[in-house]
Amino acid sequence: MAKVPMKSILFVCLGNICRSPIAEGIARDLIEQSGHTISVDSAGTGSSHIGEPPCKHSVTVARNHNIDISQFRARQVKKSDFKAFDLIVALDQNNYCDLKALGCQNLVKLGDYGYNGVDVPDPYFFDGFEGFEHVYTMIESCVKELLKR
Ligand code: 4NP
Repeated sequence: MAKVPMKSILFVCLGNICRSPIAEGIARDLIEQSGHTISVDSAGTGSSHIGEPPCKHSVTVARNHNIDISQFRARQVKKSDFKAFDLIVALDQNNYCDLKALGCQNLVKLGDYGYNGVDVPDPYFFDGFEGFEHVYTMIESCVKELLKR
């Protein structure tokens, strides 16, 4: 059977200030380079950071890879997203379970794309910049694989 073309993807973490903005930025960049028309957004399961820009280390690590995420603003996921987006991508297992509990069905975990389903660790609680490059590499690899599929 022919693959149904994917038209929209929503990346979801907890705060929407560290991991999912990086995933959104990478996906936007790859999609733009490929000439495809897939819309991408990101959101958080939590409400603590609504309206905030991505954390400074996420902005820096993305900028180091020539991707500008500084204008993104955090928002909380809403149930209507589950219909509005073809695919919802959770960054870790807690996000996955929270989304499932909200009734999300079209749901996958980013780590399933080349990392044996492991969680993308939350760098918010890391000490300093260390770890953000690792998280970036992991997200980039998984997003590439996701878009390929
Ligand atoms: P994110 O990181 O889920 O990757 O955006 C977090 C940012 C903030 C908090 C948790 C996770 N927080 O609890 O404030």
